[in-house]
Amino acid sequence: MPKKVVLLGATGSIGSSTLDVIRRFPEEFVLIGLSGHSQTEKIKNLVDEFSPPVVCLPEVPSWAHEYPRTTFLSGERGLSQLASLPDADMVVIGVAGLAGLLPTIEAIKAKKHLLSANKEAIVAAGPLINHLLDENTQQIIPLDSEHNAIFTLICRFPTPHIKKIILTASGGPFFRRAPTAQTTVQEVLTHPTWSMGSYITVNSATMLNKGFEVIEAHYLFRLPFEQIEVLIHPQSIVHGMVELTDNTHIMVASPSDMRYPIAMAMFYPSLPPSGDSSFTLPGKSLEFHPVPHERFPLLSLAYETGRLGGLFPLALNALNEEIVSAFLKGKIHFLDIERLIITGIERFASTEESRLPLSFESLAPAEAKARGIAFELLGEHSHDV
Ligand SMILES: NC(=O)c1ccc[n+]([C@@H]2O[C@H](COP(=O)([O-])OP(=O)(O)OC[C@H]3O[C@@H](n4cnc5c(N)ncnc54)[C@H](OP(=O)(O)O)[C@@H]3O)[C@@H](O)[C@H]2O)c1
Repeated sequence: MPKKVVLLGATGSIGSSTLDVIRRFPEEFVLIGLSGHSQTEKIKNLVDEFSPPVVCLPEVPSWAHEYPRTTFLSGERGLSQLASLPDADMVVIGVAGLAGLLPTIEAIKAKKHLLSANKEAIVAAGPLINHLLDENTQQIIPLDSEHNAIFTLICRFPTPHIKKIILTASGGPFFRRAPTAQTTVQEVLTHPTWSMGSYITVNSATMLNKGFEVIEAHYLFRLPFEQIEVLIHPQSIVHGMVELTDNTHIMVASPSDMRYPIAMAMFYPSLPPSGDSSFTLPGKSLEFHPVPHERFPLLSLAYETGRLGGLFPLALNALNEEIVSAFLKGKIHFLDIERLIITGIERFASTEESRLPLSFESLAPAEAKARGIAFELLGEHSHDV
């Protein structure tokens, strides 16, 4: 019997890769529910292709009556219902941003086999999610290629034998040449190895994406920050490593294609039966470099905010979302991103919200405060230029 899959964020980059895995292995997986947000036409095409019994959009679409066998859910509540659909064997969360938090919680409570790429939810509310996972004896299988690689390895090696885990980073477009005042949005969006959405591609260029991944790894694998290292690996072939106490390094290598980690996660604890037979290592050189931290201050800031814990990682995420959005709209320069985020975290640290204990209730006020600070900073910046 194929496994029944619910896919949240079916219209995005992770969603498309997940759909490809489902298309490739129709005997193994059947799509029984999907969600989208703004791309309603794309969802209609997916309903035509997959005939899923349940679909969720922000609002029930005008064309819903054309599909009498499909139930249309809507809004946040609909997304939570979809994530806990009684029939689902597997829930895949490919939603971007904090919108992924509520469905993550609902899927855990419903004891679903949960696969998630939604790092924002884990970064913002890691301790709360871990508490829920423990209460429900559940786990999250990560889809992010680095975390998926480490998940594959860590299952094999008991924690006392692990000296550290190493996340690799391509270094993005600005590892070998520094950005300048003339750097364009297009240059920032031209990633050397991965094809991803624009927000995550900008984060990759500042290396804050790697910073979020460090925080995500801290919560997913429950390891202290001292045991989580980042190495630059421009080829993006090795995604993650575990260094054992005897200094042996065990690595996972695969093409830079999200369908690989997604298939690994979907088949877990088994393995995908096939992949890209053209992928071989001979002729490939694999380089590993220490991170030039002075070039990527937001990676260091992510370690700092991760160590501070509480609501700081959430604030870092919210500030970054607003400031990167302003960059993508051409309102600020690439070099302004770092400066504004560093100032934003300093301002957040002086607020009452930053001192609230982390709880489901404190997430919204802290997020609002951080977004407010981002708007203030962007306003002040527009006066400066
Ligand atoms: N792309 C990658 O290679 C990659 C790798 C590792 C981890 N991740 C993580 O995976 C997640 C998704 O990334 P992505 O690159 O696939 O992003 P994306 O291409 O922007 O797709 C985001 C998905 O979320 C939906 N969405 C957006 N806002 C929403 C909201 N408020 N409520 C419900 N759904 C919403 C979008 O719907 P519409 O498109 O219909 O608006 C889309 O389906 C992120 O957390 C990212 O950090 C991505």
